[in-house]
This record gives sequence, structure tokens and C-alpha cells, in this order.
Amino acid sequence: MDYLMRQAREVAQQQFGKGIYLRGLIELSNVCRNNCLYCGIRCSNCHIGRYTLTADQVMACCEQGYDIGFRTFVIQGGEWDEQRSPWIAELIQQIRQRWPDCAITLSLGEHPRETYAMWREAGADRYLLRHETHNRRLYSLLHPQEMSHAHRLQCLDWLKELGFQVGCGIMVGAPFQTIDSVVDDIEYLIAFGPHMIGMGPFIPQRDTPLGRFPAGSVDLTARLYAILRLAMPMALIPSTTAMATLAPDGRLRGILAGANVVMPNLSPTDTRQLYALYNNKASLGAESAQGIKMLADELSSIGYHIDWSRGDAPTQP
Ligand code: 5AD
Repeated sequence: MDYLMRQAREVAQQQFGKGIYLRGLIELSNVCRNNCLYCGIRCSNCHIGRYTLTADQVMACCEQGYDIGFRTFVIQGGEWDEQRSPWIAELIQQIRQRWPDCAITLSLGEHPRETYAMWREAGADRYLLRHETHNRRLYSLLHPQEMSHAHRLQCLDWLKELGFQVGCGIMVGAPFQTIDSVVDDIEYLIAFGPHMIGMGPFIPQRDTPLGRFPAGSVDLTARLYAILRLAMPMALIPSTTAMATLAPDGRLRGILAGANVVMPNLSPTDTRQLYALYNNKASLGAESAQGIKMLADELSSIGYHIDWSRGDAPTQP
């Protein structure tokens, strides 16, 4: 394990030095039409209050983030009906006009190709859409019947064709997951070649059908970061919030396994607890944009530092 982690760190450092890229996460809305069996914002969870930020609120989050030094904004939210897609396009245009030097990342689920094209046209640069698992049977155990594994992969192909920097990934230790299925995921990731890889341990959310399953492991997740870093030296790999939620040093363990991105929360403080994909989600302290000094201190305790640049995916030599 030690050797694996050391090799992964070395490869990451050859690519990125000891700089860690930041992304400011703005949780746009917890309204979602999907009903994923593991997710706290699934549409049939009636135990949470639903919210959607206004465009002005999003702009205020970006403003605050920009002043702190963020140069990437990630607009993440539940999957909405198509009729709201033009509103998102306008929001993207507004951000793009106001901060032309920033990257805009979207994480808004599955949509028709035309919608993705409209958002790209409006100025979005990157898109995160975890494939969740490459195993069709496991996919159907984690999602309602209406959702399809094939369609998820189709979306990822469209995003790539449209020129987005694309991120996919999995939940580690999801219920019913096996090591064989994780190996399939590694193979898929290598074949698809995403620019970004989003992976975090599964964490149960008590109001979901899978809320009684145990959480995934920080160790196994770190091991996967390391393996994927070795397989894909240039990939942007965040040490995710779920890592920080499960272990106080989870974030740092991810970085010591070759991750090179962190995504502090820029959402308004009062809506943060409503964006509860899982229980006890970390969103304060070093997890939040306001706690950036704490994060910088944490990073420097292991010899790393914040890299304030946009942090685009390096291009193949
Ligand atoms: N535990 C961990 N990750 C989760 N996600 C959703 N629900 C959970 C959970 N209970 C992840 C999914 C999704 C991303 C936005 O959050 O992988 O793609």
C-alpha cells in the first residue's frame, strides 16, 4: 500500500507539482426528477425541504468565490425537467460574461444532446456526470427502472463530442458492489479517458431505500485514486467531500494517494444542509470556501499548497 501511494504521488507531482486545484462548488438546487435508491435528494424523499437558488444568489456565490481567488465554478444540482434548461443557459451566459477568466463546470445530470449543446454554446467548459457503475446489473440495483445504464454512457459520449472536459466516476463501496465490478469500472475509465474522475465512498442517507447499508471505505477509495493516477497520469482527480465526511484526515489521504483537486463549498450557508445527498455531509471548516485558510494550512501540513489557476485538463503531448 505504501509503495502504491508513493508511486501515485510521484506521478501526480510530475504532472502538477505539489499544487492542488480548487473548484468552488455551488449547489444550485436539490429538486430532482430522479429516484436513485442511494441519494438523499431522490424525488420520493419527502423528508427534506426543497430549494432552488435564484440567479442572483448564484451570481453572489460566484462573486464571493472570485474574491477569495476561485477560478472554477461548479454548478451542481438535481436533474430538472427540460423546460428549465434555457434558464440554466442564461445563467451560464451571465457568469461567462462577468468572469471571462473562469472555468464553468456543470453537474446537472442527464439531458438531451441539444441541451448539452446549448449549455456548451452558452459558455460551459466542463461537465461532471458520474457513470456510477459500469456493471449493468449493479446499475439496475441502484437505480429505478426508468433509468438506463446505456443512456448514462450515451450522455457521456455526447458531452465529449461537444467538446466539454468530461468527468465520470463511481461511488466506492456502494451496496451490492463487488471488486469485480470495480475492476470493470477501472477498465471503462481507462477506455473512455475522462479528463476528470469523481470518486467518493458511498455514505448511507437514512431516508433512502439503501440507508441501512454500511458506508464505503476511505482506504479502498484512496487505493482507487492511486491506481487511476498511475493509469491516467493527467487526470484531474478530486479528493471528494465524502472522503472528508468519513474521516477527519480523509481529504489529505486522498491527496497523498495522488488526487490533485479539492472542491470547497461556495453555496449559501443556509441551503447547505438541504443538499444532503448523504447524512453528516461535511460542509463547514476546511470544506467551505470561507474556511480556505484552514484548507491551506491542512495542505501545507503535508507539504502541498493551493494552486489558484483555472486548472484545465492538461492536453496530451
Ligand atoms: N453517498 C455517496 N455519494 C453519493 N452520491 C449520491 N448519493 C450518495 C451517497 N449516498 C453521489 C453520486 C452522484 C454524486 C452527485 O453524488 O455518485 O453522482
